[in-house]
Amino acid sequence: MPQFNDRVMALQVPGTRQFANKVSQYENGINLTLGQSGFDTPDFIRQAMTTAVEAGQLRYTHNKGLIELRTAITDYIAERFNVDYHPETEVLITNGGSEAIDSIFRTILNTGDEVIIPAPAYAGYEPIIQLLGAKTVFVDTTETHFVPTAAQIAAAITPRTKAVLFNYPTNPTGTTLSAETIQELVQLLKDRDLFIITDEIYSENIYEGQHHSFIEHPEVRSQLFYINGLSKSHAMTGARIGYVLAPEAAIDQVTKVHLYNSICAATPSQYGATAALTHPAAKQMITDMNTAYRERRDYLYDRLRQMGLPVELPTGAFYILPDISAYNSDSFQFATELLAAEQVAVVPGAAFTSYGEGHIRISFASTMEEIVEGCNRLERFLTDYHHH
Ligand SMILES: Cc1ncc(COP(=O)(O)O)c(C=O)c1O
Repeated sequence: MPQFNDRVMALQVPGTRQFANKVSQYENGINLTLGQSGFDTPDFIRQAMTTAVEAGQLRYTHNKGLIELRTAITDYIAERFNVDYHPETEVLITNGGSEAIDSIFRTILNTGDEVIIPAPAYAGYEPIIQLLGAKTVFVDTTETHFVPTAAQIAAAITPRTKAVLFNYPTNPTGTTLSAETIQELVQLLKDRDLFIITDEIYSENIYEGQHHSFIEHPEVRSQLFYINGLSKSHAMTGARIGYVLAPEAAIDQVTKVHLYNSICAATPSQYGATAALTHPAAKQMITDMNTAYRERRDYLYDRLRQMGLPVELPTGAFYILPDISAYNSDSFQFATELLAAEQVAVVPGAAFTSYGEGHIRISFASTMEEIVEGCNRLERFLTDYHHH
């Protein structure tokens, strides 16, 4: 067989799916690895997609996406953050947040460029950066409650820094950024020759106070790529709808990348997303799901504390990242043993960069029954644990 691309050959396959795959083979297995809502996609969204298919809406849309959807997004952003983005020129609909990440990086990065990312971090960023021959510079947030300080970011900036990426609420820590922290970061980054990328795919999953965003700061508007999507907020990961907001000149460039890799996002999904953002029942649905997640978070947090595991209270997303290093500094080995002994699947923290090592990620998108039983088993496992 001929040779493959060098950079692809160097990529590792994430070792995380294997825990979810293995646990599904146990009849009494408990899967606490979910990276998506356990709720079904709401009826009105499914209806809108079905109606679109039946009406024959299976042709390409505009490269940037349906104007109805782009307008629904800019209306939502105006209401949420009191900022105006233009639906014709400053929005691009992508195939999930994933394609937004990929297309933005491909639009801005040259070989040797650096991207600063606070860590522990979502595992989907670094491989794209590596494919482009660029470099990720992780900033350790483990000593600062998973929140980066402006001083830490400042220390990581070099002449090669092309972008700083923030993902708040964060996968895998569940941390949010306060208005004050964002203000400090804005002061640091404004007027510098670098982009700010903000991945806010969990912005609707907030359990304390309000979500704040870089998009509220006009000082950084010319540098900002705002990523969001419907996958997590509306329990529609399989519909593959994400979006990018940025200045017109930036959207023009990202649209070139997007049209060559995708032409457009899937048309029936775009109709579903339009309904998701405009239907009168949508807000209540999000509130109801968050009420359930908050209850599960509170339960999980209390149980983990009772087990004596150091843990931060997540204020967003649907993940908690307890520290298991007193038992085993190797999170992959710990998760493997937990699965074998108790048939409970969690994600090893090492999947989220080396700064996640010594932790495990537990999802509270799982059902309350699964969380209760998962906690009972984890507690038993820790009681019997033979330390390494
Ligand atoms: C932080 C973060 N960004 C982006 C994504 C990708 O989302 P999508 O399903 O919309 O591609 C995920 C999915 O887990 C995520 O956790």
